[in-house]
Amino acid sequence: MKGVVVVFVLACVVGALSFVHPYGDPRVESAKGLDTLLQGADIPASAKAVLVGKCADCHSSETRWPMYSHVAPGSWLMERDIVEARKKMNLSHWETTPPEVRDVWMAKIVSEAKRGEMPPLQYLALHWRAKLTPMDVVSLSALTKSGAGEASVDGVGDATRGKAVFQKRCMGCHAMEADREGPRLAGVYGRKAGGVAGFGYSAALKNSGLTWDEATLERWLSDPDMVVPQNNMSFSVAKAEERRDLIAYLKTAH
Ligand code: HEC
Ligand code: HEC
Repeated sequence: MKGVVVVFVLACVVGALSFVHPYGDPRVESAKGLDTLLQGADIPASAKAVLVGKCADCHSSETRWPMYSHVAPGSWLMERDIVEARKKMNLSHWETTPPEVRDVWMAKIVSEAKRGEMPPLQYLALHWRAKLTPMDVVSLSALTKSGAGEASVDGVGDATRGKAVFQKRCMGCHAMEADREGPRLAGVYGRKAGGVAGFGYSAALKNSGLTWDEATLERWLSDPDMVVPQNNMSFSVAKAEERRDLIAYLKTAH
């Protein structure tokens, strides 16, 4: 009899806690249906399929909620993941997200996919079919395969314009004074490639023997894979003038 009471009390507590959302309640966002996700996005269908099938539960407003997702404290962990994931990248907001931010999203998707860090392990434990296959990684990689940038232009770059480009296009991964997803870039001009101590570079970049000057930066920003195959920066700058201005800015940034 005592046991029954204890179980009953526990069930009430769990039931009550399940209405509490210490990390925020991601269920309040309204969903339009999984099949509407990324519909207007100009990205390859195979990449879209992977994103919708394997990433949307956390990175969109189209979360599918299984039964167990309503029971505390497990529900809290899931809610925390979903709140965090949407904050960083909510694919339901694709249409209203500025193109330069979408470029950074796509570059990060490719690098997370190549590193095998998404979807996270706690998700794979419950959804083992969501693990990315090598083919999925190839499909996602197409998101940043826009080909090499325009041929370089002559003339002097404008560091002020370069700074603005940097803020828009590079700061999703880089800061001047701190390492983020990419290494700190203050003083990069004239530095050896892979030269920030303690940053986790790819072996390819670290062993490239490059030194960053106008020519190497121009090629790197135009198409990193052409200069250093197997590097970890899945991002390039198509516009030649933007590259020239960026390099002028990097030269001044010590
Ligand atoms: C279980 C929920 C979950 C799933 C499923 C999931 N993610 Fe994430 N993702 C997160 C969380 C939480 C973060 C933020 C914390 C972090 O960076 O580790 C994140 C961060 C990211 C980031 C970094 C964004 C930034 O601005 O730094 C990218 C890119 C990303 N995920 C891509 C993916 C891709 C691609 C998939 C599908 C293959 C995926 N995620 C599936 C939970 C998830
Ligand atoms: C999606 C994230 C991402 C974006 C966006 C990005 N980078 Fe990077 N960047 C990286 C990563 C990661 C590395 C390290 C690559 C490696 O280890 O192979 C890197 C390396 C570099 C390096 C070499 C630094 C060194 O110490 O050798 C330069 C220069 C650089 N980035 C410039 C830029 C500029 C300029 C932009 C904006 C136009 C930019 N990056 C945008 C992730 C990014």
